Amino acid sequence: MSSTPTLPSHSDAYWMPFTANRRVKRNPVLFAAAEGMHYIRPDGRRVLDGIAGLWCVNAGHRRPEIVEAISRTAYELDYAPSFQMSHPLAFELADALCEEAPAGFSNVFFSNSGSEAVDTALKIALGYQRARGQSQRVRLIGRERSYHGVGFGGLSVSGIAGHRKPFGNLLPYVDHLPHTYDRQQMAYTRGQPDWGAHLADTLERIVALHDASTIAAVIVEPVAGSTGVIVPPRGYLQRLREICDAHGILLIFDEVICAFGRIDGAFASPYFGVTPDIITSAKGLTNGAIPMGATLVRQHVYDAFMQGPESAIELSHGYTYSGHPVACAAGLATLDICRREGLFQRSQELSRYWEDAAHSLKGLPHVVDIRNIGLLAAIELAPLEGQPGQRAYAVHNACLERGCLIRSAGDTMLLSPPLIIERTQIDELFSVLADVLRASA
Ligand SMILES: Cc1ncc(COP(=O)(O)O)c(C=O)c1O
Repeated sequence: MSSTPTLPSHSDAYWMPFTANRRVKRNPVLFAAAEGMHYIRPDGRRVLDGIAGLWCVNAGHRRPEIVEAISRTAYELDYAPSFQMSHPLAFELADALCEEAPAGFSNVFFSNSGSEAVDTALKIALGYQRARGQSQRVRLIGRERSYHGVGFGGLSVSGIAGHRKPFGNLLPYVDHLPHTYDRQQMAYTRGQPDWGAHLADTLERIVALHDASTIAAVIVEPVAGSTGVIVPPRGYLQRLREICDAHGILLIFDEVICAFGRIDGAFASPYFGVTPDIITSAKGLTNGAIPMGATLVRQHVYDAFMQGPESAIELSHGYTYSGHPVACAAGLATLDICRREGLFQRSQELSRYWEDAAHSLKGLPHVVDIRNIGLLAAIELAPLEGQPGQRAYAVHNACLERGCLIRSAGDTMLLSPPLIIERTQIDELFSVLADVLRASA
């Protein structure tokens, strides 16, 4: 680094998202710079990034090719209107994403975040049913413990109680599948649990309750990330697909975390052997360097809209910054890096090593379960009596002080590092976490 980072003056004005503002702002953790696998704190201390920022910096920090693409594009074309006109990079990125997507995905709708990608997917699902003469299909089915962002649509199908409760009833006509976690059946499973495929059959009960003719779509994260890396039981996603097919219901995979190499390949659905109708993505799409979301649809979904007079707008939806040139440039540069460096295969190359490292924490104080898949891991801790979330938060802070960024969510420690991680850095992450847990006994 050429210049010494300085601590910016901070005040109370910044209302921090998903943050205990009063506590955190007394002594905020600030990052001044980043490179490769590391953040750099204002006093120069390096922090090994165990969560890829927030599950997004998959190719590692401050990649020169992405920085260069962003600055060149901002210099050449700061903005282009996205309604009724565009610019070449948006077409180029849409083509490139369809090339990487599972067979049959033909079109991409751009937005600015995972939340927007999800709301776009839900609206497309409703519009699709209406376009094919099924306008009574207005019901959306999510799943308990899922996270689909913070828009009213995504939040309505999400299943994390604490996120929903403060905001009332949200969208009407929403139901939820049960989540797939049962510690008694699956504690310390490596990869996909054998138990639990039958939980998908609850969808048949939901269909029986509401009638298929009222249901537009089912949305699930293939691996539920934010709630604590809940890995789908073998056969579960296949069963969901079969039931959706039997009843004319669209299946949406929210791959905001799972895509771009996190599990295996550019998108995770082929790994699980299931092709949804719609895929949402964001985060790793631009390596976290600039906001962008993308909703990918299969040909039959797009075709359903392409009817009527050519002068008609087929989908009354879009954002001022849909397909922003700078974000498209970042997306293309990110894809280039991932293809050139084989990053979409990296999770699978490392997954056995990663799995062994994660499961080596079994038996340490407070650990009650360990889950993993691809380059994702969750170490679940027993909560402190009467203080849910506080044990994991303390562990997170202690790891940070020892130079490792490991996220806590509830009482689970979450790991999802940049895919460029080396084996020695995997060792470092888990040995720091192990030391902190031993010290907390
Ligand atoms: C599966 C999933 N969907 C949607 C979102 C929302 O993305 P964003 O925070 O970019 O709106 C997230 C964020 O973590 C996510 O994990």
